[in-house]
Amino acid sequence: VKVLITGICGFAGSHLAEHCAAAGDQVAGIALPGEIPPFTPSLAITVVEGDLMREATAGFIRDWRPEVIYHLAGLASVGRSWQDYERTLTVNALGLLRLAAVGREAGRPVILTVGSGEVYGRVPEEEQPVGENRPCRPINPYALSKLWQEDAAHYLVRSEGYPLVITRPFNHTGPRQRRGFVVPDFASQIAEIEAGRREPLIWVGNLEARRDFLDVRDVAAAYRLLALDGTRGVPYNIASGHWWSIQRILDTLLGLARVTIRVEVDRARRRPADVPLLSGDASRLRFDTGWEPRVPLEETLARVLDHWRGVVAAGGEEQCGA
Ligand code: GDD
Repeated sequence: VKVLITGICGFAGSHLAEHCAAAGDQVAGIALPGEIPPFTPSLAITVVEGDLMREATAGFIRDWRPEVIYHLAGLASVGRSWQDYERTLTVNALGLLRLAAVGREAGRPVILTVGSGEVYGRVPEEEQPVGENRPCRPINPYALSKLWQEDAAHYLVRSEGYPLVITRPFNHTGPRQRRGFVVPDFASQIAEIEAGRREPLIWVGNLEARRDFLDVRDVAAAYRLLALDGTRGVPYNIASGHWWSIQRILDTLLGLARVTIRVEVDRARRRPADVPLLSGDASRLRFDTGWEPRVPLEETLARVLDHWRGVVAAGGEEQCGA
């Protein structure tokens, strides 16, 4: 399959590029100027620099004529979205409409949109894991932007029958995810402490929240299966159906640490509003595509910590985006 990935140098985008290339797809992608591709060098993946909204990128998409566009470019941080709400809403919601305008001139490839389990907002524990038919009630600007993106997707389907695959991934993590998300926030601090770059004290936010985590490679696999076999215009949860408290994630990472570390709550890491529990029912995805998550979270957490040990040992910060 000939595919185009927006946000190809981002966290999920880079893993999806590797997954598609390994499956034999021809892969090209768009990255922000200055982003360094983190792919394994042997894989043939074309990266074009540019801003999605610019004519130069549109020209490339028209020439490349992908069969599928995975639209992963966007702002992914819930925590930052209060400060940056205008950009979050613009990039995440309007970005899709602009991409569809290019797609229209490039043979109307399928566009897969990346929404979020955050769109559901607060859901009582007895009604979790959440199914797709549950009403969406966002409680932060990021979740609102993803709901607006979905509205734009439904509008495109209704108004012109544009072929769109709509996804709602829940939390996912892995190597290359940037600081600003809970697992890299914790793992990067532990790696710095182990290397003697900080005192043995880890700063944390709300440990009571519970989330449904997948390994990013399982999410990449779900995107590809949905692009090929998913029903157009219908939302799909991508989730494990299980949840972990953030406390348990912290304890697991601290259990892997090579030194003893104290824990302190940093009030700045707490949010104006935080969904207490979020877990998704992915029966629709499983039924339509045969998808199953493969990687246990313990293994993913160990990989993220090792990744940050490597970053710290190399003396650098990640180049790759979120
Ligand atoms: N980032 C961060 N840093 N979060 C922390 C910290 C910390 O030091 N300490 C506790 N938390 C808590 C947050 O308050 C939240 O309850 C939980 O850890 C997870 O936070 P994030 O990793 O920032 O992710 P998120 O759940 O807000 O959003 C993620 O999942 C969504 C899907 O469910 C992101 O990946 C979104 O892009 C994604 O759509």
